[in-house]
Amino acid sequence: MTPLQDALHPAGIQAAHIAGLWWFTVAICAVVFVAILAGLFYALVRAPRGDAATPPDMASMERPERATKRTVVTAVALSIVGLLALLGASIATDRALATLPLANAVHIEVIGHQWWWQVNYDDPVPARTFSTANEMHIPVGRPVVVSLKADDVIHSFWVPNLHGKKDAIPGRTNTIQLQADKPGTYRGQCAEFCGLQHAFMAFTVVAEDDARFQQWADAQRKPAPEPTDAKARRGHDLFMSGTCMMCHQIQGTTANARKGPDLTHVASRPTLAAGTLANDAQSLAAWIRDPQKLKPGVNMPAHHVPDDELDALVAYLETLK
Ligand code: CUA
Repeated sequence: MTPLQDALHPAGIQAAHIAGLWWFTVAICAVVFVAILAGLFYALVRAPRGDAATPPDMASMERPERATKRTVVTAVALSIVGLLALLGASIATDRALATLPLANAVHIEVIGHQWWWQVNYDDPVPARTFSTANEMHIPVGRPVVVSLKADDVIHSFWVPNLHGKKDAIPGRTNTIQLQADKPGTYRGQCAEFCGLQHAFMAFTVVAEDDARFQQWADAQRKPAPEPTDAKARRGHDLFMSGTCMMCHQIQGTTANARKGPDLTHVASRPTLAAGTLANDAQSLAAWIRDPQKLKPGVNMPAHHVPDDELDALVAYLETLK
């Protein structure tokens, strides 16, 4: 299922406030647009018709135009009222966005990288923290506090169905609070130009009931399973003896680097390469062989390994459910 990315179908209270402000702005602007066109049309119809021989109408120079003046003053006053109404609505929306009750909130740290999202789930018990990439699960009906950081350049976290945009800035932490009220899968997108692959810096937010969320989180906390068949075993050994483990982490193995996405449960994710590819064996093989072809400029280098080694690596990664 293609996840929704639509600010006009709010799935949470914050996005609903923003959508409300949008429709209010559209309504006021529509009324102004129609009024201006009506005035223009009226003027065109009423304007006196003349030809080269008609003398210029100098009447307005000689006597004051009371009716015209009244119309202009009324139009200016109505414009001021309209603008004040928009200002008031904007302030009220801002205030409403800031008042989400945060009791029992889920805390998630999101770090923007060129060009993927690192998602860290915080927990008072350090052993219960875990990391994933380009995928966020949240429980429906519970507030979520997202701490936003950036590793390299400015990125912007945006899930239109749940909230507005918030920048992730290197060297500082921003927070955004959101809550999903409807279960569903929503698409997030980086909303600040951050380099070559900015457009391919997407992520998925899955909002589900608390029981399913806990189930997912428990599965993510588990270390990677030991490969059982020979091919996956060979892939595991290639991973641990090659360059893969210099950038990636797989919990429960000797791969502990944090440069690239955590791959402990990579096979359970909906996409690869931050929403660029479907997560299947074919895409995975193509990605490992030549990421530059699929996402030019990305930090992962090409790996020109023999076919049988590539097969084994893919077989191993596919076991990381
Ligand atoms: Cu990250 Cu645009």
